[in-house]
Amino acid sequence: MRLDEFLKLNVSEDLAQITTTIAQSCITVWENIPFKSGLLADVNPSGERQKAIDVFSNDVFADALVGTGLVREVASEEMEEAAAGKGRVSVAMDPLDGSSNVETNNPLGSIFGMYSEPLPCSGRNLVGALYVTYGNSITITLSFGKGVHRFAAVRKGPEMSFELLGLDLKIPEKPQVYGVGGARKDWIPPVRDFVDSFEGRGMRVRYCGTFVGDYNQVLSRGGIFAYPALVGKPAGKLRVLYETAPIGYINEQAGGYATDGTKSILDISPRSLSETSPAYLGSAPLLHELERLVSAG
Ligand code: AHG
Ligand code: MN
Ligand code: MN
Repeated sequence: MRLDEFLKLNVSEDLAQITTTIAQSCITVWENIPFKSGLLADVNPSGERQKAIDVFSNDVFADALVGTGLVREVASEEMEEAAAGKGRVSVAMDPLDGSSNVETNNPLGSIFGMYSEPLPCSGRNLVGALYVTYGNSITITLSFGKGVHRFAAVRKGPEMSFELLGLDLKIPEKPQVYGVGGARKDWIPPVRDFVDSFEGRGMRVRYCGTFVGDYNQVLSRGGIFAYPALVGKPAGKLRVLYETAPIGYINEQAGGYATDGTKSILDISPRSLSETSPAYLGSAPLLHELERLVSAG
């Protein structure tokens, strides 16, 4: 089944068109990744130096999404203010996740949250979310509140289209892999002690430095991805609106749990577009155990 056929049967017309617009645009982004790895002078709202591909992907997605006439606004990790549109869906995006990995050809991604309310707002207002992986294949993993489904890009003549790869994906409860961002020396003590227990449980480290790439394997293998609270940086690094709420929504739809250490990430009401939080996502039993440890301090 093609992506557009699936969408026609399962989601409202505006969400369907927003999703197919992202699917068409991500091919343009993917083709340009190797040639736009240069570092620019500019910094994004999180104070991070931008790469040419960060800005290029931002402009490709934002222009295409506003051009649908179906989005209220497009907010992005790469823009101070949201781009205004007209429509009932607010889109928040990380147009290129993991851009520090462009030169090494590590997995990269794009993340999109589709919110029913104006931004910023909590993840409980998500009506859909998807992430793109640019790896050995280009895949779109998505949910609109009725399970998690995956499509892969295939070439049909001069065009690329997305074909169904898997329906109703579920995260294994038995954890096999773990990946934790930041420097070990900076992890808060409960996290460091918890991570030290993993190998004894037969878990293996799988970490590539891109949230999308690291989470994607947790969804398949069971386990945990974390970008934790750090000593000296208690709010962690990952942005709620653009990164952890959309993927936390997908993770919850797959039967997992996503927490900031004290509550579901979907219950965070960010006060600003680029607000960050500690982020721990993966198999529910392991994440509830982590929450007990972090809450106990
Ligand atoms: P982005 O490239 O969109 O800024 O995201 C990078 C993030 C995330 O993808 C990854 O998990 C994390 O940065 C890695 O951070 P460190 O390099 O500090 O480990
Ligand atoms: Mn990112
Ligand atoms: Mn990014």
